[in-house]
Amino acid sequence: MNQPSQGEVAVLDYGSQYSQLIVRRVRELGYLAHLYPPARLTDLNQPGAIILSGGPRSTSDKDAPDIDFEKLMSFNVPVLGVCYGMQLLNIKHGGSVKPGVTREYGPAKLVLAEESPLFVGISKESQVWMSHSDTCSDRGTQTKVIATNEDAVPVALQWSDRCFGIQFHPEVTHSHEGTAILKNFLTRTRANLARFDIQAFKAQMLEQIKQDVGSRQVICGVSGGVDSTVLAVLLQRAGVKLRALYIDTGLMRLNETAEVITQFEEVGVPIEVVDASKEFLSALEGVTDPEQKRKIIGNLFIDVFWKAAGDEVELLAQGTLYPDVIESATSGSIASKIKTHHNRVDRIMELKDQGKVLEPLAELFKDEVRALGESLGIPHRALWRHPFPGPGLAVRVPGEITQEKLAICRAADDIWIKELRRSGQYDNVWQAYAALLPVKTVGVKGDERSYEAAISLRAVVSEDAMTADWVELPYDVLRAASNKILNSVKGINRVLYDISTKPPASIEWE
Ligand code: XMP
Repeated sequence: MNQPSQGEVAVLDYGSQYSQLIVRRVRELGYLAHLYPPARLTDLNQPGAIILSGGPRSTSDKDAPDIDFEKLMSFNVPVLGVCYGMQLLNIKHGGSVKPGVTREYGPAKLVLAEESPLFVGISKESQVWMSHSDTCSDRGTQTKVIATNEDAVPVALQWSDRCFGIQFHPEVTHSHEGTAILKNFLTRTRANLARFDIQAFKAQMLEQIKQDVGSRQVICGVSGGVDSTVLAVLLQRAGVKLRALYIDTGLMRLNETAEVITQFEEVGVPIEVVDASKEFLSALEGVTDPEQKRKIIGNLFIDVFWKAAGDEVELLAQGTLYPDVIESATSGSIASKIKTHHNRVDRIMELKDQGKVLEPLAELFKDEVRALGESLGIPHRALWRHPFPGPGLAVRVPGEITQEKLAICRAADDIWIKELRRSGQYDNVWQAYAALLPVKTVGVKGDERSYEAAISLRAVVSEDAMTADWVELPYDVLRAASNKILNSVKGINRVLYDISTKPPASIEWE
């Protein structure tokens, strides 16, 4: 659990789906910030400012989450309430909150009413993002309405030149000047804030790792993905005894294992490669059900990893990131921590209880991990590699897995990814791959009828994999990839481009 530090911006989480984004925006502005459950208010250690997030509840609910207002004010620092946070502050300042007639959801105009430090330099009518049904119907005598919506409903309140409430969400990009409003809050209220800077953070992390590890040996799994690569390099730079294990499941992409080995050679981290491809492929023989496939792969992965790790693990390092930590800290549920099949399992929980799990990246968001990686000298290509699922090509070859099918899928995928790189589109895409469809289609090759399989190409953008949109790639990129696949991959006579959003589709095929 994070220890509160002086000068940080403490964001109290009332359960909004955007709470983490507030922390992110504050850090993007260069200030230290952490998310806390409201009950941890009493633990704060001279924070620089406090923000109360939005939340799904209504302040009129019987067991609505509350705030220890006296304690909050005792810090004598700038305070901002967002949405639910504003309603709570309004009540504490002698006002009341009523259910609105309709739910206000989506874009709205912010109409400035009075001068306020919060709105210095903000346009007179700026677009903001609303998501609420309750409104601050009555207000205490000390309350200034500093902005309304177009229907003259108050949406921004000021109780002093260091205490404000806003009904909209400044942290989402749909609030066009949201970051500027947050910046005003932090910089125009005489806040004494600690800076967040990745270089300084790196130095602290290296020192902390040295202390935490001592003379113990650290073991970590690496996949070649961003998080595990940054983790391994960080550990190596901290000078600890390190074993980095890479498991080849046989479900990797073309030349992937060789590329991962080279990637680690380049950054000077030796890795141990465990070739378990035969075991995986034989365990998957005849299996067609997607869930069954995942289960087999997940369990086998764990077995292979622990067998290679040995019985005496002194310390296990994991690339857990801040979003995973927050999720479990605020919901209190361990189950919600299970992100991937091999992240949190019984043995890991056991080691955790014994203080044998190290999670050095647990303070960071993905973009911060990349910045850290850059400052560790990890090449751009490794830091911006698309995500690749644990079960590998097994979820991209629906139905039974065979060597032949994997080879076709690999060849097509390689052409597709190379084409994206050649055309400069790779970095515009969040994730891309080729899937081999379990159908045969009729075609003509030369003068002959062909009856072969179809390949589906996918390229999506996403923020967090929860939702995704397909990318409107230029036709010439699609055409070049399709031509190359049709001309050079044996067994394929049709290429499709997947134009499904998530939801309702998922990113992978299985
Ligand atoms: P879906 O298909 O659920 O994928 O939209 C969302 C993201 O998660 C990746 N993915 C996985 N990653 N283990 C992982 O480590 C898995 O079992 C797994 N399944 C899907 C997928 O590639 C996408 O980025």
